[in-house]
Amino acid sequence: MNVLVFASRKGGSGKSTLAAHLASYIANPSRKTLLIDNDPQGSLSLWHKIRDQEYLSLKHNVRNLGEALREAKREGYEWVLIDTPPNKSSIVAESIKHATLVIVPTRASLFDIAALQDTVQIARELRKPYAAVINAAPAKHGDTEAAVVADARGALNALQVPVWAGQITHRPELTLALATGEGAREYQPNSQGAEEIGRLWTALERSLNAIHNTYKKSGGSSRAA
Ligand SMILES: Nc1ncnc2c1ncn2[C@@H]1O[C@H](COP(=O)(O)OP(=O)(O)OP(=O)(O)O)[C@@H](O)[C@H]1O
Ligand SMILES: [Mg+2]
Repeated sequence: MNVLVFASRKGGSGKSTLAAHLASYIANPSRKTLLIDNDPQGSLSLWHKIRDQEYLSLKHNVRNLGEALREAKREGYEWVLIDTPPNKSSIVAESIKHATLVIVPTRASLFDIAALQDTVQIARELRKPYAAVINAAPAKHGDTEAAVVADARGALNALQVPVWAGQITHRPELTLALATGEGAREYQPNSQGAEEIGRLWTALERSLNAIHNTYKKSGGSSRAA
């Protein structure tokens, strides 16, 4: 079972947005997926309430995460995605402790990248693989990414923070889909937003395979890009 934790001390970086779009992207009748909304703000719980499909389950404010994850495994869940609040509380550390991979969404700005370092620090201390994902970025022009995105990438590289090579662009369909309880692929399957979420998913699967292979070889944990 894979546990993806969405964490960033910075509010509004896109934790809940990415968790919702990825979870709804992967959930299907033969791939049981569980969302754990461990942010007291309850954004994902609100979204899940207006959904009209049962392959994606949700638990809210889980007190004993270890027990909830053992139960999810017994029930045959393959994927668990955990949303966390924008702080450095014990909820965040406890979630990261159980992560297979920590996803740290960040906007391409100095303030966001400064804030991200606290979250990265927790993942490093707990020896958990993590990767930043640049979210809500200005659109690319052809293959060329916006200067702010290139700068952010440079800053993340300088901090030795692994970062996904792609980006999730700021797109209206990513917000509109959530308002109808859907993910990007359900809302507009051929949209650019859905395509980017798909690309992110492919990259995450690849990272998880690398994590599992490294783990098998060394019996330890590793960092992932
Ligand atoms: N790629 C995107 N395109 C368009 N809008 C986006 C994108 N990512 C996030 N948003 C919007 O930005 C706002 C903040 O996103 P979101 O709630 O996912 O962040 P968060 O990190 O979960 O915030 P918090 O820390 O408060 O929980 C939301 O209104 C969301 O719709
Ligand atoms: Mg949130």
